[in-house]
Amino acid sequence: MLIFYISIVCTFALTQCNASLNVHNRMYVLLEATSPCILLLNGTHSAGCSSSRNGNVGVIHLVRNISELNWVIRSSPLHEYIVGVNLDMFTMKNLRQMNTSSKVVGVLLMQKTPRELIHRFSAEDTCPNRYSGLAAPQIGEKVCDDNEAWNPYGMGAMRERWNMPIFFTEDNQTIVQIEQCFEKFNLPLDKTQSDRSLCALELSSHMYASVNSPTCLRRSSGAYNINPIRYCDPLGDENIYVPILPLGNPKHKYIIVAARLDASSLFYGHTPGSLAVATSLVTLMLTAKLLYALTKDADTSKYDKNVLFVLFNGEAYDYIGSSRVVYDLSQKQFPFKEKPITFDDIELYVELSQLLNHSRITYHPSSGFSKQQSFIDKFIDTAKNLNFNVTIGKSSKITIPPSSMQSFLALNKEMPGLVFTSYDKQFENRYYHSLYDDHFNIKYTYSNTTNIPSDSLPNYLAEFATTLAHTLYETVSGQTAPQSSVAMKNDSDALLHCYVDTLNCYNKGTGLSSLIMQDVKPDFYVGVSIQGNQITLLIKYTLIYFMSRITNITDQQQCIDKNTEAYLTYMWIDDKKICRSSYLNSTPAISPAFVIPDYNMSSGRYSTWTESSWQLISVRMFMKPSRSYEWLVFVTGLSILVVSFALTYWIKRNAKELFNYPNLISASNI
Ligand SMILES: *[C@@H]1O[C@H](CO)[C@@H](O)[C@H](O)[C@H]1NC(C)=O
Ligand SMILES: *[C@@H]1O[C@H](CO)[C@@H](O)[C@H](O)[C@H]1NC(C)=O
Ligand SMILES: *[C@@H]1O[C@H](CO)[C@@H](O)[C@H](O)[C@H]1NC(C)=O
Ligand SMILES: *[C@@H]1O[C@H](CO)[C@@H](O)[C@H](O)[C@H]1NC(C)=O
Ligand SMILES: *[C@@H]1O[C@H](CO)[C@@H](O)[C@H](O)[C@H]1NC(C)=O
Repeated sequence: MLIFYISIVCTFALTQCNASLNVHNRMYVLLEATSPCILLLNGTHSAGCSSSRNGNVGVIHLVRNISELNWVIRSSPLHEYIVGVNLDMFTMKNLRQMNTSSKVVGVLLMQKTPRELIHRFSAEDTCPNRYSGLAAPQIGEKVCDDNEAWNPYGMGAMRERWNMPIFFTEDNQTIVQIEQCFEKFNLPLDKTQSDRSLCALELSSHMYASVNSPTCLRRSSGAYNINPIRYCDPLGDENIYVPILPLGNPKHKYIIVAARLDASSLFYGHTPGSLAVATSLVTLMLTAKLLYALTKDADTSKYDKNVLFVLFNGEAYDYIGSSRVVYDLSQKQFPFKEKPITFDDIELYVELSQLLNHSRITYHPSSGFSKQQSFIDKFIDTAKNLNFNVTIGKSSKITIPPSSMQSFLALNKEMPGLVFTSYDKQFENRYYHSLYDDHFNIKYTYSNTTNIPSDSLPNYLAEFATTLAHTLYETVSGQTAPQSSVAMKNDSDALLHCYVDTLNCYNKGTGLSSLIMQDVKPDFYVGVSIQGNQITLLIKYTLIYFMSRITNITDQQQCIDKNTEAYLTYMWIDDKKICRSSYLNSTPAISPAFVIPDYNMSSGRYSTWTESSWQLISVRMFMKPSRSYEWLVFVTGLSILVVSFALTYWIKRNAKELFNYPNLISASNI
């Protein structure tokens, strides 16, 4: 009898062991070249994606046309699928269907088509920053009409909340791996799927935050937690500013020349922003360099104007940086308490946005711009005198495009200002705020700063910068700039290389010899305010190099220690052993919503975006055993349980006869 019992247990145990071994040792392949859609929250909603806590698991189903999508939603035999799609199938309609279907537990965008064949893609709203700037409820101006939207290519997926993780890969090897596994194991698509082992994916991107920013910040704060966990953090970074003359001269009026410093994208880590950010950023830097060179050694004591270059950060998320600067201005805190600039000090505001090819430049004036009309006349004359072949025209729309200027106009509608763009009624950018807003979009190839063609982007931007710098120079000094001082197209090429191709972009033009940057593509996502941003650092360093004086300090420590002074920034240039001083500085690009005490997060006045935190983001592929096999494992396990209970009961009852130990039980009780 005993032998029988042992043999039964062992047989079952072995099956059990085998089965569990099979399940646990299923081969996981980590697919690293993937990037997720993450979760962001504002004062009232959340947008983006999250997986369940342990990741979403589903059988791979590749969809190339509508009938294959319908199959998975309507006729597929299993309960959970991860759907692989290409860009053609990645439409709002299809995504909504998959979001609603309980069968689709995740989406993987797999796009390996050559870049030249991708004609458009923007996951951004057709009206970027639809609810903020001049459109904030407290201001209530209509600045974007859906029938004539600024971003006509926008599909809007970025601003929606998805009930499933969405990942992206463009890595050929990864895509081939998935396709082969799908074709080998998951085809044919019929009822027999339930009897086979199938190729499956696990998408893990569990986001800790939920509901909205106030809820998640409340949960994060120590009050309810002994060990505070951060569920989310406010988006934000730094705004950079640099004047050509020292700040704080009460005689000075200001001309602000601005551009934005960030972009956004549906997929984390893929925010190239070449047209959304890089071209106007580079133009601003070139302008600043040239204007500084023109005024550096001039007698500026008679100037009654100063030019302040500002780069706003976090603009993609309801104008974080510019709304903060405007808020600080209104609190007499910008750039610092001791020497504030007031709204009345701003004589003119000029913004550069999506500059590309200046065969036509459009300016979008504010209603108060007429007071400064002479500026644009001067600008047009300057371009003519410099023989630049550019057409400059006024926008044919009266509304102001999405721009940082909206933050200023929200407080002072009459501020004279204009935005220079390459588009007129709507963006020409077919890839606005997407992973494809790259070098290809702006037709840029690095020339290694030599032999730059005259019809190339670096040359256009240098010409634009020269025109702007000369116009500004004439405005502040009353003199005409010498025709020979121009923004260099090799500088333009060097800078574009940094902000389009790689952050590791040392060459003579950028003066970056002692700054070690990683060889990575620039990513213009603003990120959370508690983390430093590589691009901000690179821009600061370069602008200091362009706009600084060599001091007589020769000691590195002494140079660094000087940085306690509020109005000057000192930088040690290691390889040349010199200490430079510059008026460059930064202010926090953190929304006033997180600064104003008891701010009402649902009011919509200021940006309330936060980013959820997470622990693990991964995509894994493995073989999922057939359903019948899983049933077998389950039933076997259950049988063992039942049989063991029965056996234990039976053995216990018959212990006397079986083991012949009459006193065993009573003995143990003593
Ligand atoms: C948050 O975003 C949603 C959807 O984009 C929008 O409807 C809502 O007004 C926003 N809320 C705030 C407080 O900005
Ligand atoms: C969808 O694609 C599959 C496989 O490529 C093909 O067999 C099928 O005919 C297509 N259906 C339609 C409606 O195009
Ligand atoms: C996706 O599904 C969730 C939950 O059902 C819903 O709240 C959300 O609005 C849906 N998203 C879209 C874009 O339809
Ligand atoms: C600049 O724009 C003009 C007119 O739209 C176009 O013909 C030309 O090819 C463009 N140049 C570049 C380099 O994109
Ligand atoms: C640019 O030229 C320098 C030499 O002038 C060379 O060392 C470097 O590799 C070149 N870079 C590229 C990207 O071609």
